[in-house]
Amino acid sequence: MAPNDWNAVNNPFKLGVLGSGKGSNFIAIADAAAAGRIPAQIAIVLSDVEVAPILSLARARNIPAQFIPPGKFRTKLDEDSERAFVHALQEAKVDLIVLAGFMRVLKGDFLRAFEGRIVNIHPSLLPSFPGLEAWKQALDHGVKVTGCTVHFVDAGVDAGPIIGQEIVPVLDDDTPERLHQRIHAAEHDLYPKCVAAIARADIAVTGRRVLWKTGHNATVPGST
Ligand code: GRF
Repeated sequence: MAPNDWNAVNNPFKLGVLGSGKGSNFIAIADAAAAGRIPAQIAIVLSDVEVAPILSLARARNIPAQFIPPGKFRTKLDEDSERAFVHALQEAKVDLIVLAGFMRVLKGDFLRAFEGRIVNIHPSLLPSFPGLEAWKQALDHGVKVTGCTVHFVDAGVDAGPIIGQEIVPVLDDDTPERLHQRIHAAEHDLYPKCVAAIARADIAVTGRRVLWKTGHNATVPGST
């Protein structure tokens, strides 16, 4: 299937979710799918962390969930691990890979296997503050607004075409924890909307620009 050929997809549209931690974005997406707000089914959840709560949360919902050892590196998957991830996702016939707190950078063969079909959520208004602890970077920099971004994944770090963004004001008495908490809440609103738009083939990608065909957009809470 050609990248971004959103009409030639499985029915139902199948999601593969990858996460390393808590899984609160996974829950937001699973709840939205169960309620019919995302026309898709979560086919598989994969993690590089054996004890990650995202795996037990998936199993509690009868969603297939698997730990795949990441191998010898700290920030990426080794070759065997990458092959195992790709194999599991292809076996599950996923249309879209949803990164939900997956803490390893995806490289060449993985990206080639699912070109244009991987999305991520990042806790800042990209291109500001890519990388780790983006909420802390925003606070330290003194910006007055930050937020979260859903974007396609390419070979750069937090660099692919932007699908949607949601704004979170920075308050004078914010601590990193408080700001992070409000960004997290915005993520739970934004991510399901963006995944739903993709599952409905409601977006068109031209270079770096992702246009929402219905004219809706995801920018501020309640905008879609
Ligand atoms: C989110 O803050 C997301 O922006 C980042 O990882 C975190 C995952 O949180 N990429 P959770 O596991 O979904 O609760």
